[in-house]
Formats: sequence, C-alpha cells, structure tokens
Amino acid sequence: MQNRQTNQVFNFDKFPNFEKDVDLKQRAWIEVKGKAIETNVRQLRSKLSKNCQFMAVVKADGYGHDAKVVSEYAIKGGASELGVATLNEGIKLRSSGVKKPILILGNLYTKRDLNICFKNDLMPTISSLRECLICNNIGKHFGLKFPLHLKVDTGMSRLGFESNKFVQQFEKIKSFENILIEGIYSHLSSADEANALDPKSITQLQRLKFNELLKQINLDRNNEIKIHFANSAGMLINKDFHFHMVRVGLSMYGYSPLEKIDKNLSLKPALSLKVKVAFTRTIDKDVSVSYGGKFVSHRKTKLAVLSIGYADGVPRNLSGKINVIHNNKFYPQVGSITMDQMMVDITDSNEIKVGSTMVLLGSDGDKTISPLEWAIKSDTIPWEILCSFKNRLPKVQLD
Ligand SMILES: Cc1ncc(COP(=O)(O)O)c(C=O)c1O
Repeated sequence: MQNRQTNQVFNFDKFPNFEKDVDLKQRAWIEVKGKAIETNVRQLRSKLSKNCQFMAVVKADGYGHDAKVVSEYAIKGGASELGVATLNEGIKLRSSGVKKPILILGNLYTKRDLNICFKNDLMPTISSLRECLICNNIGKHFGLKFPLHLKVDTGMSRLGFESNKFVQQFEKIKSFENILIEGIYSHLSSADEANALDPKSITQLQRLKFNELLKQINLDRNNEIKIHFANSAGMLINKDFHFHMVRVGLSMYGYSPLEKIDKNLSLKPALSLKVKVAFTRTIDKDVSVSYGGKFVSHRKTKLAVLSIGYADGVPRNLSGKINVIHNNKFYPQVGSITMDQMMVDITDSNEIKVGSTMVLLGSDGDKTISPLEWAIKSDTIPWEILCSFKNRLPKVQLD
C-alpha cells in the first residue's frame, strides 16, 4: 500500500474494522439502557385499562435511542405492536428480526410503496379511499387480504380521513374484500397542554368527536378492529383515552410529557450522552473563548475542550446555557458551541484531564441533566432534542 501524500510504502495487515477495532467511546457517544425501556413499558402498561394493548413508537430510530434495541426491550416489557414513521424504518426493523405487527404512521401513497409495505409484512396508515383502493387491488392481485389501519382526523389536521366524510366512506370501505381493517385510529394534537382536562380543551373535543364517529360507524360487536387514540400524554390523562391500544413514545423513553405526572410513576431515562475531554488549556483573565468572543474569562480559567458540537446534535442555541457533569459535580459550558467541539470551565477541578469522560445528558452521582431541561433552554420540545442526535454519535447498549 502506498501513502497518497508521501509516497511511502507501508504494509499494515489491514485497516481497522470500525465495529471491532475502533473504540466507540473514543469521542462522544450515546448510551442506551434497554432495561430502562423494559421497566418503563411494564410500568406504563400497569396504568392501562384492562386488555388495552401497548404499541411502542420507535420511529426516528427509536427517538434517537436505536429502534432495534428499543423494540427488543419494549417487547420484553410487553409491547404488542410497534409504530414507525417510514417504509424504510419498517423494512429495517422487520429485517432485524422483529416479529410483532409494525404500523407505518406516515402516509404511503404510491402503488409501489404500498406493494413493498405488503410484501414486507408491514401495515400502512390509510387516510383516503384512493389509497384504500390501491391496497384492495394489491390484496386481490395476491388473492389475500391487505392488513391496514384507517386514520380519521379529529383535530390535528395532518393525516386521516375528514371526520365529516368518514362515516359514509367507511360504508364503502367495508365492501372491499381484499383488505383487513386491523385498526381505526386518530391522533391527539394537544394532550400535553396544561388544559387537557378542561371539557372545552382541544383534547376533550377531539375525544368527543372520535367517540361520536365510532358510534356512527356502528361496528359489529364481534369485530376485531383495534381502536387507538392516545400518545404518551393521552394515556396519562385518564382511561377515557385508552380504547384497545395506546401508541406510546416519549414516556417509554423515560420522560413525562405532562407537568403533573402520576406520582406513582417513576420513569427511568434510557439515554445518556457522554463525551471525552480531548484537550485542556489554561487562559488568563479577559481572554475570549470560541467564535464571536461571546464569553470572556473573568479570572484565570482552566478549559476542557469536549469532542462534541452541533454537528452531533447539540443545539447551538444552548451555548453558555448548559452544564456538564463530572464526578457528581456540574461544570458550566462556556462560549459558542462549535460544529464539532465545545468548551467547559473546569477551573474548580483538579481531576479532569484529557481522556476524562463527562456527562451531557443523564446522571452521574446524584446529579442529572435531562433533555427536558435542554428543551426548555433552547425553546423546543424534548422530542426534537432526542431526534436531533446524528449518526456520527455511536450508540452503545449497556445491557
Ligand atoms: C401518530 C403518532 N402516535 C403516537 C405518537 C407517540 O407520541 P408520544 O411520543 O408523545 O408518546 C406519535 C409521535 O409523534 C405519533 O406521531
């Protein structure tokens, strides 16, 4: 092998095998505790009304945790179905060996995609007669029934049949012989708002509308169609939202979407974000740090340079607003967060050095930093924080 820059010839046996030889914890990484997912699912299921099933929502690579790992532990905890957003997410999960029913929560609208969906044993969400007819034709072509879930819009104005046409359209759909209606569902838009219990809230009006539609379509008592409505917040409000199944994401990962959480519930965050100190330096008083000089030292300051930045998914607008934990102590992040690195003031520590590990999210001793805290500080929601982590961050499973 010849070096392209120097023309030196070298004879290494092989290049490193990324999986085997490169230390996943060399820079920054996400740690995932599968057991926490399992415990959370068990706990959440104990709050469900009798016979209500649990769909684990594992879209966006399991909210940044690794969809395969999350699915495995959610199933151990008793999840009976899985929800993904895209056809590719569904195929990936199926080919990883997951056997449970998988519902695609996004919309598939071409014959080609619906065909692939059927052949991979995945169920689509159907929001129009047109797509329902395509599924019926695919089923007919194979002499089989195409399993699917119908979605009705009760106030989200995203996917779903229009509520005022649904009853009539459902009559037509019932005559399609090559589809199997596995479920009928709707999605709550505002169940995590503080007023969700108020009878005039969007959430309660959605519930009334959904109940009214279910009454009007007059399902035969022996049908096996699963009715589902609630996300995490919906399931935690009360049992009126449970029906036959709930679709749960955020709370399964260990975070409550509600301020007033059920006191008997102690959800365990499954994710930690950790980083290595790549470099340390000491600067004098009145020296600026990072792009734009937004931070100027007010004393002689020891800095740790951490190998993580906004290209890994740490929002840049958290610059100067977060802490990092080492050995049960908080240290302030200072200056602008850069693409690949950020600086932390470690003047008060004698033990942090190059190669030390610091915690950005998760716990160390009795100190904890949650994505909920980052979300508030960066004016977003915890869902976005979790989904923003990039592939560049390796995921390390702990159990
Ligand atoms: C259709 C649907 N159902 C359920 C969920 C799960 O929501 P949560 O993470 O709030 O539990 C989502 C997430 O966005 C969704 O889009």
